[in-house]
Amino acid sequence: MFQLAYSAMENAYAPYSRFKVGAVVRGKNGNIYGGCNVENAAYPQGCCAESSAISAMVMDGETVIDEVCIIATGDALVTPCGGCRQRIREFAGGHVPIHICGPEGLRKSFTLSDLLPASFGPENLGE
Ligand code: THU
Repeated sequence: MFQLAYSAMENAYAPYSRFKVGAVVRGKNGNIYGGCNVENAAYPQGCCAESSAISAMVMDGETVIDEVCIIATGDALVTPCGGCRQRIREFAGGHVPIHICGPEGLRKSFTLSDLLPASFGPENLGE
């Protein structure tokens, strides 16, 4: 997962923030899906790496996430933004690990519940 996240980060399109992010989700089917952030000159139209990875997974017919890996450069711990925590929540339970990496490797692992406690999800709609 780390290798795919790293190469996704390298291919990120981030000419405005210059902040490249790579994300990988592992589906229940065992496959891994990568994504990178893709920015836009109309700034709000950009999309996050996690969002791209989730789209690739859903396009492949998988709708259950078992593990997440995110990588970015810089010294800070780059945890998913609030919107992406909710996007992950759509397809993942609270126990799902989210590994936060830098270019050197793993920095810290969280669960989705750590990052999005008492969350709202499909179950709230009776799904
Ligand atoms: N970004 C992500 O791709 N994922 C996150 O969870 C945090 C932020 C991207 C969005 C934007 O292209 C750049 O990082 C700076 O915010």
